Amino acid sequence: MDSELFIRRHDPIDQISPDIYGHFAEHLGRCIYGGVWVGDDGQVETNDGIREDTVSLLRELDMPVLRWPGGCFADDYHWEDGVGAREDRPQRRNLHWAQGREEVFEESNDFGTDEFVRLCESLGTEPYFAANVGTGSPDEATNWVEYCNYDGDTELANRRRENDQTGNGEDGYDVRFWGVGNENWGCGGRFSPEEYAKEFRRYANYLRTYDRTMSNTDLELIAVGHINDDWNRRFLDQLEQGIDWVDGSPHNLMDHLAVHRYYKAGGETEFTEEQYYKLFARARKVAADVDDAIEALDVFAPHADIGVIVDEWGVWHPEAVSDNGLEQENTVRDAVSAAGVLDDLNARADVVTMANIAQTVNVLQCLVQTNESEAWTTPTYHVFDLYKKHMGGTALRTVVDTDVLEIEDEEFDVPMVSASASESDGNVFATVSNRDLNESRTVRVDTDMDELSTVEAEVLFEDLEADEFSSPDNADDFAADTLEVEEIEDGICVVELPPNTVASITLSE
Ligand code: AHR
Repeated sequence: MDSELFIRRHDPIDQISPDIYGHFAEHLGRCIYGGVWVGDDGQVETNDGIREDTVSLLRELDMPVLRWPGGCFADDYHWEDGVGAREDRPQRRNLHWAQGREEVFEESNDFGTDEFVRLCESLGTEPYFAANVGTGSPDEATNWVEYCNYDGDTELANRRRENDQTGNGEDGYDVRFWGVGNENWGCGGRFSPEEYAKEFRRYANYLRTYDRTMSNTDLELIAVGHINDDWNRRFLDQLEQGIDWVDGSPHNLMDHLAVHRYYKAGGETEFTEEQYYKLFARARKVAADVDDAIEALDVFAPHADIGVIVDEWGVWHPEAVSDNGLEQENTVRDAVSAAGVLDDLNARADVVTMANIAQTVNVLQCLVQTNESEAWTTPTYHVFDLYKKHMGGTALRTVVDTDVLEIEDEEFDVPMVSASASESDGNVFATVSNRDLNESRTVRVDTDMDELSTVEAEVLFEDLEADEFSSPDNADDFAADTLEVEEIEDGICVVELPPNTVASITLSE
């Protein structure tokens, strides 16, 4: 089968925000406790409680941003419980994700703000905090910002200096991203869009005023959007009912609107051929959610500069349930579907400001899995590793000419080849996947370069089946192999992609 990919440098879209390759880690199951934080359990090497093995794998990904502490967890979390001497921190309830539900989950608060900031520093990642709107207050949220960022002489700023674990907290942690709640249409308080707009205005008013008066860091506030019904429209409409004030329109209180999208088709490792393809059709909803959010912003907040964040996304198989801490096997199929989502997000570089796959370690479509003594990478990890050259590049418009599978009752069809391209430092970087379960694809890559030469080309999952997943014993089998590129004249090259594979090609003129 032949497909063709056209890449044109004269048609740049925008710079790809590195934050599109962002991540999300919640106090849920074994994501933080067990996966990141083990305290002094003595089984694995740690840096004062934080697993070295997990960190060293994640560090390779150049993770731009990490969202924490939830998720639903965030709207029943009180940050002051998690700072100060660990032995004095209170054990608390958190009403979400009572993993192993026969026992009530109790949050030890061993891992809190200062541990999270230290984790981010060791990963070279920017922290993103989700504040509590459901059971919290604007005062609590603003205090959290003050604790993290203020460089003056208040009690909270001094408390941070005392608790700082990085050695760099004297002038503040410079936390830029602040989410005003999480899914407040659901677990975060079951607000109507109108009610949430009022709450958002109240929270954002204090956070923005802090920002204007006390801050060295320009805060970026993230409002909760939705993929369903008319939440975004009603929220934006109601938000504007506040009068214009020093910031101008109340729409200026927000910098980003966040949506979440999970998808599934069949089971984690058991799926029919039809379900195999349905997962790709459903993964396309992520891009559609972005388009819907942009449409609402264009109509209801046309003068504001608001980006769209896909705050949580990924495959959520039926096997991942609260009782097992939302753990699932992560297969080649899942990883190939993530590649398609990242291609779609690159193509929307002009509007997407961030995206965070859920969740970093052990939970849902994680990148790293752990047991008591080892940490290893999932197939999806390798997709992020392969795609990292897109971060900060200029997205180029690409056209893919390929065969398309239509699936009955699915909103979206499945182009057999997915691709995106970007340019940085004079090189063109293209990512291409063949989603066909059985057939190889010959992909002719047609660029507007006079001549081209291949700098590097790699392929993932060659000789692996779609339902294979990694374990401590086979994790290396999922790493990239070299891909052969046939260079033809006039800026054209050809690659052969085996079934369910993802490739990257770096080209120079
Ligand atoms: O990622 C798991 C959960 O999914 C998050 O806590 C919540 O925000 C979403 O519903």
